[in-house]
Amino acid sequence: MKRIAILCSGGDSQGMNTTIKIIVNMCHIYGIEVLGIKRGFQGLLEEDIISLNNELVKDIANLGGCFLQVARSPEFAAAGGVEKSVKILEKHGIEYLIIIGGNGSYRGALELSEMGVKVLALPGTIDNDLFYTEKTLGFDTAVNNAVKAVDDIRQTMEANNRAVVLEVMGRFCGDIALNVAVAVQAHSVAVTEANVVIKDIVDDVKTCLESGVTTSPVVIISEAVDYSVEDVQKALEEQLGIETRGMVLSYLLRGGAPSVVDRKFATQLGILSVELISQNKYNLALGMADEKVFAMDLPKAQEYKQDFNYKLLTQLRSLYSLKQLY
Ligand code: F6P
Repeated sequence: MKRIAILCSGGDSQGMNTTIKIIVNMCHIYGIEVLGIKRGFQGLLEEDIISLNNELVKDIANLGGCFLQVARSPEFAAAGGVEKSVKILEKHGIEYLIIIGGNGSYRGALELSEMGVKVLALPGTIDNDLFYTEKTLGFDTAVNNAVKAVDDIRQTMEANNRAVVLEVMGRFCGDIALNVAVAVQAHSVAVTEANVVIKDIVDDVKTCLESGVTTSPVVIISEAVDYSVEDVQKALEEQLGIETRGMVLSYLLRGGAPSVVDRKFATQLGILSVELISQNKYNLALGMADEKVFAMDLPKAQEYKQDFNYKLLTQLRSLYSLKQLY
């Protein structure tokens, strides 16, 4: 009987649980034994490994967070971490390792594969910063969570004629900020990809106030920019005289049930993973293009560069006739 293990690493993302459940269910059908490694690469180093079965995972598919838990592991990244991990995988007779995570986890996956471990890498991160795939697991839910929060917050802002500045996660990638901004038709959005500085935000808000398009401007900033919500708030109040509130939406984006889009994606990823393992295929990165899941060579997947959607940014800025910045 083949023995495989699943490990989730980096930040958790909605859909990880859905994927875990599907893999366990499919492995049962294919006669594959499946183990769960807790707390990512750190749990692997500590041999925190459990046996998974249908009963254990039956209620997790619609939950956010991660049943196996996650961790960021400096010990794995340090000298000797990969070699020690390989020995532990051998000791436990683990033939295939499914790693669900973001770009840090993919680096770990690649290193393990170079040491002879049979690896499948699945894109699980809200940040959407794995560029070989159209989307990563959790991104859609994170954007939806943020949009819901902005919709709610703007009601009370409008009742008070206040501007609001909201920061969203995404690490170094502006995709969450851009997609949220478009979905709520924000009056300004700050992403590093377009080099947006505070003066640009002030100009945007000024234009929108002067044209009468709003009395309660909404500004979305990515956590990647090198200024804070408070910095922008202060600039708007001092330079435009508009009362302004601010909030960092933070982990609100990463919690909660996965969206329909993420559940479908997670299910497709899980099915494809077990199919590939049953065909003895490995060292692959799984992704999504045109609604179809695919698998590509793992090293090749890491060569892709960001293809930021400037067109979408242009469309948002055109909504209010704002100056194009890039
Ligand atoms: O990578 C996912 C993510 O949520 C990023 O958007 C964010 O910058 C980071 O993780 C937060 O990490 P932590 O949960 O370790 O605070």
